[in-house]
Order: sequence, then structure tokens, then C-alpha cells
Amino acid sequence: MCGIFGYTGHKEAQKLVIQGLKRLEYRGYDSSGLAVQDGFQALLVEKTSGKIKNLEALLHRRPLKGRTAIGHTRWATHGVPSRENAHPHLDNGGEIAVVHNGIIENHFDLKETLKAEGAVFRSETDTEVIVHLLAKYYKGNLENALRRSLKDLKGTYAIAAICSKEPGKLVGARRDSPLVVGLGKKENFLASDVSAIVEHTDRVMFLENGEMAVVTKDSARVVDGAGRPVGRKAVKVDWDITQAKKGGYPHFMLKEIFEQPGILTAVLRERLHGAKIRFDELKIAPRAFRKVKRIVIIACGTAYHAGLTAKYVLEELTDIPVWVDTSSEFRYRNPKLGKGTLVIAVSQSGETADTLAGLREAKAKGALTLSVCNVLGSSLSREAQGVLYTHAGPEIAVASTKAYTAQLAVLYLLAFYLAGLFNSLPQKKRKELLREFSRVPFLMQKTLDQYREDEKEWAEKARDFNARYHAQLEKYFSTDPEKRKRSPNGFFLYLGRNINYPNALEGALKLKEISYIPAEGYPAGEMKHGPIALIDENPWVICLAPQSRTYDKMISNIQEIKARGGIVIPIVSEGDSEIHKLQPFYLIRVPKVRELFSPFLTVLPLQLIAYCVAREFGEDIDQPRNLAKSVTVE
Ligand code: G6P
Repeated sequence: MCGIFGYTGHKEAQKLVIQGLKRLEYRGYDSSGLAVQDGFQALLVEKTSGKIKNLEALLHRRPLKGRTAIGHTRWATHGVPSRENAHPHLDNGGEIAVVHNGIIENHFDLKETLKAEGAVFRSETDTEVIVHLLAKYYKGNLENALRRSLKDLKGTYAIAAICSKEPGKLVGARRDSPLVVGLGKKENFLASDVSAIVEHTDRVMFLENGEMAVVTKDSARVVDGAGRPVGRKAVKVDWDITQAKKGGYPHFMLKEIFEQPGILTAVLRERLHGAKIRFDELKIAPRAFRKVKRIVIIACGTAYHAGLTAKYVLEELTDIPVWVDTSSEFRYRNPKLGKGTLVIAVSQSGETADTLAGLREAKAKGALTLSVCNVLGSSLSREAQGVLYTHAGPEIAVASTKAYTAQLAVLYLLAFYLAGLFNSLPQKKRKELLREFSRVPFLMQKTLDQYREDEKEWAEKARDFNARYHAQLEKYFSTDPEKRKRSPNGFFLYLGRNINYPNALEGALKLKEISYIPAEGYPAGEMKHGPIALIDENPWVICLAPQSRTYDKMISNIQEIKARGGIVIPIVSEGDSEIHKLQPFYLIRVPKVRELFSPFLTVLPLQLIAYCVAREFGEDIDQPRNLAKSVTVE
């Protein structure tokens, strides 16, 4: 949570910081601010609550001139989103400014001590202790002051600081929150991730835990906790900035949905060579994989759903038993791991605090660890023994779409890879399946093209839902007992079975995230054990019913819902023989594909349903309330 951006160089800093913060807005967007060194031994600060455009508007009226600056976009943990709590925070003399991502766990104690020593606190944040510590230890060198301050801090942080007495210098430090140095020409950068830097340079240095960076326009040093240079090499990143722009789409989410066939094509082209699977960056030898007796997948949110789908695939293609856990549950249990267990941590950002903690727990217990990440050089990718990158490019919309498909792609390939190592799949069958896999991007594209054709109908349905939803709420809240309904169940229910069950969860999550409408995902077979009580003429029930071994069972479920007056929207395969006869409210068709690969197709309408409903309700699709893309707090 929270994004940090620092600049020092030959250009005016304000514009660059705003640009950088906008790229990081996905990390939080409830307030923002920046501090600029003006070259006259003073720090100029502007901050405000709300999105970065609010800060931009303020700066437009009152620009801050200077060529070194730090900025911050916040996702509140300690203290409400407000101007006072927004970063940067200043020391009493206004000479040092600090931005921070993470949580300082001992801030209460530190605050008491610092207050007793004369520090005046102006915010409710945990961060402010850092700047007062810096002032306390400052003896003419910000780097030394930061090194000394870090000794007093408990918790997690990525920090960037500047001091009016040391023009042109940025200092940074990290522990468990990401920080990257970008190396330009006569200018250098500090940022929470590469997406904020790639439009200026493709050369970056990733900081490891416990390291600090000292950056001027002509130099960038990475040092360890004792101040010794660590000899960090710069790496080249291959993210294309055009990928991080909307490219004509009204929202990043829609653009990212439409990128999915291309991403799957690229993943398959890179990794699938005939029937051979190439994992160049993997770092785990086949020898080590051969010892694996069980797999545990840990992840959060959408990545968790990718993990759940992978369980079906892995168990279908290999003989290895698989468990899947949300990272936040896994890490607080006492999981039985040890030798023979492969723990796979799936994460778009590679920075999710609970997944990182779960991975560390797994490593400590002797499991073999592998991360499946999108962000190059992220903490998970570096800490796991092996890594597989999903190469989906920067995902900007908070609601994850393309990262999900890319995670599925890599996890499917991993299943095929393990099936090859363990000889669990006859060669002929393996080849046949892989051939079909190569066709999936084309089928995804067809699904999206169909949506383009039907777009108007989709919008109408969303309007219809909106009208019914509000009519129902009116009844619920009506003071007239005659009109009042007992419960507001104008919501969405998503049902799926077998390998499409995780997609039911994902469909419900997408809708909740961006439209705030209550939605539940359920295994269709469980309907009769509770959720069927919810059915009357109100809920919209999305049934994932592509061609599959459980198709007949889904028909029965649909009939049960229809018999109770429910509104059914089945997602079926082209050429569907039965379900369309049941006269559903709306029928969505996806191309026919083997059940194993159907999640790649069925997830597309689910993402689009969420998108259309949120758009109809006028919600902020790319930046939904209360959420952040990268959850680096526990
Ligand atoms: C947040 C995001 C979700 C994401 C989850 C896991 O909750 O809003 O979209 O799925 O974190 O993030 P990760 O980066 O670990 O995939």
C-alpha cells in the first residue's frame, strides 16, 4: 500500500513526481503530497486528501520549483485520509521531509519518547516518528541519520527522505516494502516499483531488505545496514510504457480485459516449443521437482482463485495432491510442510504481505518454494527458491483481470511440465492437450469479439439490473410496512462446478470489488445446502455451464433456480444443446473448448459483467473505494 516516488536531476521535479505518483496510484489513492528542495535551503510542501488530480490542481495554481523532490500516494492505515495525515511529513524545523510505505509497529513508544524530547507531532500517522528520529540523529549527513534511525524502527518500510541542507540528495531504505532505484542520464529516481520509472529509464536497481540507497543526479549507491556498498548491478526491465497507458479504452480494466488473448499468446510463444516447456528463469532443477510429493498453493484475492483453478489442473494432469490456502490463513495455522512439499506463492505484485509471510514460513519449514509473479524483481520473486514470471505487463486497474489469465497460463504450463517430469500423462495425450492449449488465445479473442457485437445488449441488461436493484432497495427501506420487503436480496450469485467453480468465486469478487453489490460465488452442488434459500425473483444467478462432465448437473441446478423464480444467466458453450431451451433471462455463449481449458473463456464474460454493472452504476472502475492493488500491510 502507498506509493513512493523520488526524483533528483536536471529537470523541474514537480511534473515528474506527479506523473510517477499517477503510475503508482494503484497502490493507494486516498491522499497525496510532495516536498521539493528549492535550491534556497528550504523545503516546499504541498499535500491534500483525495486523488492525485487534487494535488495536481493545487500545484497548477501554486507550482513548487525545484529539481529534487519526493512524493507519496497514500492508502490509510494509521489516521484518516486528510491533509495532515498525507505524506511527506516534516520535522519541527521543516528541514527534513519523509515519505513512507509500510507500518512502524513501535510508533506509540517512539512517539512518547520523541515528544518528551520536544518533537511536535502534527499527524496521527505512524510515519511521522521517522522524520522526528531523523531530526534527532541528524549531524550534517542524512544518510547517517537514516541509518541510525532505522535501528530504532520496528515494522515494515520503504522510506525516501530529503534534507534542505543537502541539496540534490535522496536517501531511501527498505524492509519488506519495495523500493527501486531508476538510473537515468543526469537524473535518478526512487520509486515503489518500476511502472513509475519505465518512461524515463529501463535501468533499475532493486533494493533488498535492510539496504539503503543514496541517490544524486550523477550517482546512485546501494549500501547495507553498516553503510558498505553492496555492489548491486543495474538490471534492464522490458516493460513498455505504452502498456501502462489506456490506449483509447475508457478504463484500464477494459483495456486489460482485452489484452488477455495477446498475453496468453505471448506466454505460450515464449514458453511452449512444440511439446517442450521452457522455464528459463525457473532456478529449480528438475531433480528437485522430482522429489515433490505434495503441492501447497498460497495466494490472496484473485491470485487465490488462480491457485484454486490450478489445483484442478495439477490434479488432473499429475498424481501430486494439491492444497490451496489463502495466505492469511496459511501463515497463522501450523501447516505441515517440510521436505517433499512444494509451496507455490502466486501474486501479481509479488509484494502482498500475507503471501510473503507465508512463503517465509514455508521456507523456514524446509519446503521447496516457487513464486509465480508478475512484477519483475518483486520481493516474492527474489525470496522464493524458484520464480516463474507471468509477463502480463503492468496491470493498472485495481481489479485484476489480465494478471489472472497470465497466472493461469503459467500454472497450467507448470502442470504440463510436472506431468512431463513425472510421466503422469501419456505423450500422445499431452501433445493433444498442448495443441488445444495453443488455440485458446484465438478462442478468447472470439469471445471478446462477440462481446463487442453484443455490447449494447449487455449495457441494457446492466441498466435493467440497476433499475430492479434500486426498486428493491426502495421496498426494503420503505416506511410503509405494506411495501417493505423482508430482505434486500437484489444481488448476484455465481455458481460453478469443478474447474469452473474458482471462476464463480472470481466473478463474484470482480463484481464486489468494483460495483459494491453483494455477490456470492458458490459451488453449484452446494446450492441445496443453504444458498437456495436466497432465491426468489430478485437475485441474478450467473451459472457457469460450459460443455463439461458436470453439464447435466448444472442443468438441474438451473432448473431448481428457475422453479423458484430466479433470474438465470448461464454461460454456455457454443452449440449448447439443453440450457437455451430453459429460456434463461440472458444466455452468454463462449466457444467450445475442452473442459480443462474452459476457465480461460468463462472468466471473460464474468469480468465484463462486473465491468458493465459498475459502469452502469457510475462507479470508479479502475480505482474502487477502500481497495489498493498491492496490499503490503497485514
Ligand atoms: C489486492 C488486490 C487484488 C489482488 C490481491 C492479491 O486485494 O486488490 O486485486 O488479487 O491484492 O494481490 P497479488 O499482488 O498478491 O496478486
